[in-house]
Amino acid sequence: MEPTSKPVALVTGGGTGLGLAIAAGLADDGYDLAIASRSDEHLTRGSAALRRHGARVVAVRTDVREPDQVDHLLEEIQREYGRLDVLINNAAGNFPIAAESLSPNGWRAVVGIVLDGTFFCSRAAFPLLSRSPHASIVNIIAAYAWMSGPGTVHSAAAKAGVLALTRTLAVEWASRGIRVNAVAPGPIRTEGTDRQLWTSEELVERVRRGIPMGRFGTPEEIADAVRFLVSSRAGYITGQVLAIDGGQWLGTGVMELLQPFASDRSSVPPGKPPG
Ligand code: NAP
Ligand code: COA
Repeated sequence: MEPTSKPVALVTGGGTGLGLAIAAGLADDGYDLAIASRSDEHLTRGSAALRRHGARVVAVRTDVREPDQVDHLLEEIQREYGRLDVLINNAAGNFPIAAESLSPNGWRAVVGIVLDGTFFCSRAAFPLLSRSPHASIVNIIAAYAWMSGPGTVHSAAAKAGVLALTRTLAVEWASRGIRVNAVAPGPIRTEGTDRQLWTSEELVERVRRGIPMGRFGTPEEIADAVRFLVSSRAGYITGQVLAIDGGQWLGTGVMELLQPFASDRSSVPPGKPPG
């Protein structure tokens, strides 16, 4: 089969939250799409939203922890489009828990989705990506990949693994024409994070005060960074991680604590919304 003329992007977890915003941004840039996750409801809702952006959409029910299901996903993309240019490894699971209370299955669930899933999807996508004239992978991680993630040891360890995978594949696949980068979003309110992480307005406010820019980011701000990284404007960038977090991970230095304006974090004023 002749490959379709439009470029094609696969976004795992593309039916909700940041994955949906990234997929919509890529549709606006002229991509056709494949989205993959476990829930038919997420896939149906996400596909309908993405078609309104003018994209052709293939939605494949997939658990990224299962290599056979991931292989099937890539076969569907080959059958429908005959090509793949961009892979966004966005699917993830997370819940806050003290390390000593985390069960082996809880560890396996999160590490399986984030680390195994990213590797299985990248590995299965390689044959199609290596035939694309402008192939690119973006892995969605988090700053605790290089900092520390107390209360979320499973996700922090898995995202650190994805960061190592990003840098390793960037070098290994550079000669195959595939760029591999990562994006580390700061706090962004999505259905998933409102349900799993900041589950009350009090927690939302506590998180907000820890962000130097004084506000949560938006899904579109993450999508904009991904759109840049997969574009030809980023053609010489590989193996890098871009934090988009209003300054959050840089945090508070010792000297700042000596300044009167920073002595009371509860006074961080609300930041200006984007736009
Ligand atoms: P979300 O809406 O809950 O997204 C998670 C997505 O992953 C869902 O679409 C889910 O779909 C999919 N998924 C979960 N398990 C899967 C599996 N086994 N196989 C396939 N798909 C699976 O949350 P989000 O906030 O948009 O998060 C998106 C990404 O951003 C994640 O990588 C997250 O770690 C990262 N991130 C988010 C924030 C933030 O503040 N929002 C901050 C830092 C990093 P199904 O339920 O249909 O499977
Ligand atoms: N606290 C403690 N343990 C938890 C937990 C929580 N909130 N949620 C799940 N677990 C444990 C379960 O008890 C189980 O361990 P056990 O067998 O020892 O009891 C293990 O994790 C697997 O749970 P299960 O519900 O079977 O996993 P799943 O594969 O159906 O779901 C999760 C994966 C747990 C990551 C689920 O939260 C999910 O689907 N998340 C996707 C969305 C998301 O997390 N978004 C947030 C932004 S990334």
